[in-house]
Amino acid sequence: MLEQLQELEAKALEALQGVGTTEALEAWRIRYLGRKGELTVILRGLGSLPDAERPAAGREANRVKTALEQAFEQKAAALEQQEMARQLSEERIDVTLPGRPVEPGHLHISTRTLREIYAIFAEMGFQVYESPEVETDVYNFQLLNIPPYHPARDMWSTLHTTREGVLLRTHTSPGQIHAMREYYPQPIRIILPGKCYRYEQVTARHESMFFQVEGLAVGKHVTMADLKGVLTHFARKMFGAERKVRFRCSYFPFTEPSAEVDMDCIICGGQGCRVCKNTGWVEILGSGMVHPQVLRNGGYDPEVYSGFAFGMGPERIAMLKHGIDDIRYFFANDLRFLRQFA
Ligand code: FA5
Repeated sequence: MLEQLQELEAKALEALQGVGTTEALEAWRIRYLGRKGELTVILRGLGSLPDAERPAAGREANRVKTALEQAFEQKAAALEQQEMARQLSEERIDVTLPGRPVEPGHLHISTRTLREIYAIFAEMGFQVYESPEVETDVYNFQLLNIPPYHPARDMWSTLHTTREGVLLRTHTSPGQIHAMREYYPQPIRIILPGKCYRYEQVTARHESMFFQVEGLAVGKHVTMADLKGVLTHFARKMFGAERKVRFRCSYFPFTEPSAEVDMDCIICGGQGCRVCKNTGWVEILGSGMVHPQVLRNGGYDPEVYSGFAFGMGPERIAMLKHGIDDIRYFFANDLRFLRQFA
């Protein structure tokens, strides 16, 4: 048996020298070391040897088995090295090839306009205050001096929810009450940006969802002159130092007096065109002095405090500034439109 083992060792090691692939190596392992391999067959014969020969044969069998296993491991490692070297030389990466371009994203035109508005008001000391998009009838109307029977409700075509008294805010003005109740008795200087919703016929100038930026200043000596100064400064910063602004008498139940602010038409320079309907003026926002009842609803005594408020539509501002003739482009997600404002 000893001879048989040594012959097998010599034969197997010789055969291993000729192995050049991992497939051939696996075939070699099965042939000599596998469960039905040649070495296993010899080992099975150990039991039938006479007692005197068995220990020496057992030792030799173990030695041969270990020798073949080691030779197998070495060959496997050598083949792996060889394969890696081949890959490195054949599959070299050409680092000079240009990479795939990554297109940078950019801000939506509404976001950009909002940020411009924030920056202008921040310079005048206004902080951003956020309030809910889903509101109650009480905040959206009643605390703003618009009781259920008030005809002014027609100014805001409202999207109601299935829950009684809960609606999608039609304007950012309910935020005035939230802010006053939070700030009292401190003076207030804030802008309140956010989405508003109206059950409206969608046209070139009206969307059912749009942004508004509300402004609110409350203090002991806030006057209409402050309102005019702040809004005139805003218009000139936004549209150019040469802009003319006029305050036109208007009506909102939550401001008294109320005014709409018009700016000379940026498209025709005041000469008259389609955008300004040949008047030379375009409306940019609604405003007024906070109504005493609204101040009271916010917790401020109108005998001591006064305030001004305004509300503008950033999409309408962007339309004027960039000569966009249809508000529906803003949320239609047509990249050809959006990319123009990269
Ligand atoms: C208001 O909503 C008042 N809350 C504004 C206000 C605030 C007045 C504080 C006084 C004091 P109005 O409905 O006019 O007012 O809307 C204000 C601005 O929102 C408009 O000038 C316009 O720019 C924008 N806007 C209104 N409706 C739409 C709409 N359907 N689509 C796009 N923008 C709109």
